[in-house]
Amino acid sequence: MAENYVLVTGGAGFIGVNLVHRLLSSNSLGVINLDKLTYAGNLQSLDDLSTNPNHVFIHGDIGNRELVRYLLNQFKPRAIFNLAAESHVDRSIVDGAAFLQTNVMGTYNLLEEARSYWLAMESEKKPAFRFIHISTDEVYGSLGETGKFTETSRTLPNSPYAASKAASDHFVRAFYHTYGFPTVTTNCSNNYGPYQFPEKLIPLIINNALDGKSLPVYGDGANVRDWIYVEDHCAALEMIMDKNRPGEIYNIGASDERKNIDVVRMICSILDELKPVWTNEKLAGRGLKQYSDLIFFVPDRPGHDRRYAIDSTKIKREIGWNMEVNFEDGLKKTVQWYLDHPEWVSNVKSGEYLNWIHKNYSWRLEEKK
Ligand code: NAD
Ligand code: DAU
Repeated sequence: MAENYVLVTGGAGFIGVNLVHRLLSSNSLGVINLDKLTYAGNLQSLDDLSTNPNHVFIHGDIGNRELVRYLLNQFKPRAIFNLAAESHVDRSIVDGAAFLQTNVMGTYNLLEEARSYWLAMESEKKPAFRFIHISTDEVYGSLGETGKFTETSRTLPNSPYAASKAASDHFVRAFYHTYGFPTVTTNCSNNYGPYQFPEKLIPLIINNALDGKSLPVYGDGANVRDWIYVEDHCAALEMIMDKNRPGEIYNIGASDERKNIDVVRMICSILDELKPVWTNEKLAGRGLKQYSDLIFFVPDRPGHDRRYAIDSTKIKREIGWNMEVNFEDGLKKTVQWYLDHPEWVSNVKSGEYLNWIHKNYSWRLEEKK
């Protein structure tokens, strides 16, 4: 059993899985992984950690104050990484209720329990404790042709998802200013990489292309996102745990702005190279020459933010972080990862991954009591 723990919420989701793996491989830390296992949580992504004694998976809600209280008092974490959230903009446009429940109320409940825990902490451990809240550049709204978001940019969320994240960021800020509770907020740009649920642009395009389905591009395809490889984001979060100024916001981004249509075309070119259409039995007899023949422009997302771009000067200067994986390399690695993990993909598509907790995982909380 590890001597020091951190609590990661949302650790069965895309970024959480990558962060948990990183923390467990490069630290002597234990990780308590609290996840509700919504449609976005995938225990299969944590299969390799199921026998690791330093990884304690807890199936539960960040809004369950009794459970959170129990976990904090039992494991006495030195930091909390709050990643648990509803994260998909399109879903928030259809129905925002779960976004308010988890992103706002859930974060508030977690903050309250964490503050009580921090107040009662032993005095020598107390100064190092941090509540690290993982947020998004979408809270800043949309940019024109030029400029970048800085930590002092106005908060102007445009989607229900962004509004819920902005609300949670404001509560985190308020807990620092009102109670002196030691928080840090990170606002990151669009992540991509292994284990991302194929509702988000990059994994959706990769998997639709491999299945011979159309590749939907919203509007004119000229909306710009600033892409960061998920491992670079997780490296920043790991560094922030030990080096930060309480109460501060840190923007994280790799300064790799791309139009959506260019991203989609790049994925098609990589697939043309790694798995040409004539070797793909799902495309047989369709008369397609290349994957880009599947591109299809569809009506735009309502309220679609035009451009995001992050200024990461502060985290580079104060923490010493820098990105390591450029977009070309990261995208190729990502496409290769999906090609190498057909079982993960097919279990997501069939819904089989939702049964993982019953089939392949034991409830570890009882063991630890
Ligand atoms: P994700 O949707 O892949 O994963 C979210 C995880 O949270 C899932 O495992 C889900 O089961 C869990 N969860 C949801 N509600 C919960 C609750 N009430 N209690 C406990 N667990 C719950 O999301 P992601 O892409 O990994 O994003 C993680 C965090 O990073 C989110 O807060 C998101 O806003 C933020 N973020 C994401 C990106 C990105 O590009 N993906 C960029 C910047 C910031
Ligand atoms: O900027 C950070 C945010 O990035 C995170 O906070 C969110 O959790 C994350 O989902 C992501 O939000 P986006 O809305 O930018 O990501 P998404 O993958 O949904 O879309 C990326 C861009 O691609 C966006 O401009 C919409 C467009 N798009 C998306 C889908 C799913 C398409 O053109 N076609 C699609 O099918």
